[in-house]
Amino acid sequence: MAKLYVCKICGEPYIGGTEPDDCPFCGAPKAYIRPVEEFFVLWKTDMTEEEKKSVEETLKLEMNATAYYKDVASSQEKYSKYERLYKQLARVEQEHVDLACKFLGKEVPELKGEKSKGSIEADLARTKELESHAVELYTGFMKSSQNSKVKILFIALIHAEQGHEEIVGKEIEKE
Ligand SMILES: [Fe+2]
Ligand SMILES: [Fe+2]
Repeated sequence: MAKLYVCKICGEPYIGGTEPDDCPFCGAPKAYIRPVEEFFVLWKTDMTEEEKKSVEETLKLEMNATAYYKDVASSQEKYSKYERLYKQLARVEQEHVDLACKFLGKEVPELKGEKSKGSIEADLARTKELESHAVELYTGFMKSSQNSKVKILFIALIHAEQGHEEIVGKEIEKE
């Protein structure tokens, strides 16, 4: 039976028989995809200067990743495996851009970022590098945040980026 769920991290709605394993929009773990009645706004919260800096840094990383993955997707054959992979990676990173902007209470800036490295092997390797760097950075931000809502944001981001790292790692092994 179809039910309406909302992701407690990104706020996106989802209709399905059961909650998905990860949020299809922001990649948050299943535990945060809840019946619509339980939803509350996570991002309206007072942050310390240090927390704001962490979220600003996050925004920069996520903007670069979104622009980069979009560029890689557009360099692949339409509907090929890698075009699909990079389309979804870009979509999730775009959601992270939006989420960082919601926390900072600012408009989503124009995307800027790096370009495809010219071969899928090089792009997969660069992607793995970006994702593991993000996981490392967000782990530090999560630990140093006092605000529980900011902590939750980073827990969800870490989960999503670890998923990206894992899937890209598997593709590198196959290539
Ligand atoms: Fe989400
Ligand atoms: Fe991200």
